[in-house]
Parts: sequence; C-alpha cells; structure tokens
Amino acid sequence: MNVTRTVVVTGAAQGVGFATSTLLAQQGWHVVLTDLQPLDNALGKLRAAGHSVDGLSGDVSSEAFVKTLADHVATTRGAADALVNNAGISFITPAEDTTAEQWQRVMNVNLLGPFLLCKHLGAQMLERRSGSIINVASIAGLRGVSHRSAYNASKHGLIGLTHTLAAEWGGRGVRVNAVCPGWIKTEMDEADQGPGNYTDADIMNRVPMNRFASPQDVAAAIAYLADSKTSGFVNGVSLPVDGGWLADASWETLRLRTRA
Ligand SMILES: NC(=O)c1ccc[n+]([C@@H]2O[C@H](COP(=O)([O-])OP(=O)(O)OC[C@H]3O[C@@H](n4cnc5c(N)ncnc54)[C@H](O)[C@@H]3O)[C@@H](O)[C@H]2O)c1
Repeated sequence: MNVTRTVVVTGAAQGVGFATSTLLAQQGWHVVLTDLQPLDNALGKLRAAGHSVDGLSGDVSSEAFVKTLADHVATTRGAADALVNNAGISFITPAEDTTAEQWQRVMNVNLLGPFLLCKHLGAQMLERRSGSIINVASIAGLRGVSHRSAYNASKHGLIGLTHTLAAEWGGRGVRVNAVCPGWIKTEMDEADQGPGNYTDADIMNRVPMNRFASPQDVAAAIAYLADSKTSGFVNGVSLPVDGGWLADASWETLRLRTRA
C-alpha cells in the first residue's frame, strides 16, 4: 500500500488508542504510536500485519517529551497530517475527598497533555496549512457524572480547547474536532469497575442501544474526522459516540420497556 499520510496517536498501547492505530494503519496511514507504557507489543502486532508504524514512549504531560516527539515527526515525516489526542486517565472519587495533587495530575494528563501536543504538532500543521486534530473527550465532557469532578472538568476543558483551536486554526487549514464516547469496554472500564463503582448493567440500562461502545466504534468516528475526504468541512464538533445516551431523557423503566 502506498503510505502517504502520517498520524500520531497518543495512548496507543491499548484500548481506543490501539484500535485507532490499527484502523488508521489499515486505511493506509503511517501511524506514530506513543504511550507511557512500552510499545513493543503494539508495534509488533501492527508490523506483523504488514503496517507502516513507529513509536516513542513517554508522558504526554511532559513538554520535553512532546517536543522530542514533534522533532521525531518533523525529522522522519516532515509533519503529521493528523493527531489523535487519546491518552487519558480516569479518576473516581467524591469531590470533597479529591486532593489538589490528584486534581492536578488528571488535568496534566487529560488537558495539559493534549494542549502541548496541539501546540507542537499543530505548529507543524499550520506551516503546511493542513491538518486534522481529534481530541478524545467523553460524554463526561458534555454532562456531569457524580464522583468524577477532576475527570469531567478535564474533559469539559478539552472540548473548550477543541472549540477554541477550531476557531483559531480553521482559517489556516487545520481542523480540530472531538469525539465524546459513552462507556467503552477497555482496560479503563475494567479498572474503574474493579472497586465496585458500577456494573455492566448500570451502563447498558442507560444506553438506548443497550451496549457499551467498542474501541472500534470510537476508532471509526476518529477515522472519519481524521480524513479530509470524509470530513473536510467538519470543524469544531464534539461528536457523541454513545449509542444515544445524550439524546435520551427517558426514565429508566420507560427505556427498558422500549426493549420489550
Ligand atoms: N473507557 C471508557 O469508558 C471511556 C469513555 C469515554 C472516554 N474515554 C477516553 O478515551 C480515551 C482512551 O481510553 P481507554 O478506555 O482506551 O483507556 P485505557 O486506560 O485502556 O488506555 C489509555 C492509554 O493511555 C496511556 N496513558 C495514560 N497516561 C498517559 C500519559 N501521561 N502519557 C502517555 N500515555 C498515557 C495508558 O498507558 C493507556 O495505554 C481516554 O482519553 C479516556 O478518557 C474512555
């Protein structure tokens, strides 16, 4: 396959990031994977399938790492055509028990990190006057969910950043959009459910389509936004990938009755 376009995907070792890397590689993108975790396993799987990939491990909340990544992309590929800001951490604790340090760590990873990646990789896109950035927010960036004050504030902030950069950079050829998934079956969900915070049934009963999102559902929405051929005039949207969660104001017994 003739590889022409380059995408950087953060949090690419597992979950949504790995599914997105896989789909974009299948669509002919060269994928630069990045994650706090080692990437040998993810890179090995993608290379074994014949895809064009490379990777760099590091922390998205470190500006020194993000600069190293941007330099690597500039040297090896010229610039990225797309950036997927997917790396994120969950944090479930009552607001009154959340420490300033815990709050700050969530903000650093979920909001400062995407800003730094937008800044350093976006600057290269602006020089070329072309690019697409996709920020992985959440329905928790559009509504409140109890016991997630830091996480939800970070995702609301990420949508605010998306709106602002769409306004600031759209006129110079760089589109900036967000996807807002509902609950997804990944390692994050497994870790969150572990201490008994919620069950599969809690989530599925709330979703009109009666299931979790799959990482592939989210990857497909990201791929649509990444490609200027499919979404060339889409800029500044926060696209729910939630099976209808946000649309549905039914009370639970009514929702469950519709499934009979
Ligand atoms: N799982 C869900 O239910 C859900 C719902 C809505 C939105 N999201 C969002 O989707 C994105 C992906 O979530 P997931 O479910 O695949 O999570 P996940 O925990 O399975 O994967 C996240 C990846 O990000 C990496 N990461 C964490 N901190 C990092 C850092 N500082 N620097 C670099 N990489 C880092 C992790 O190592 C991991 O590989 C996140 O932004 C998450 O907030 C998840």
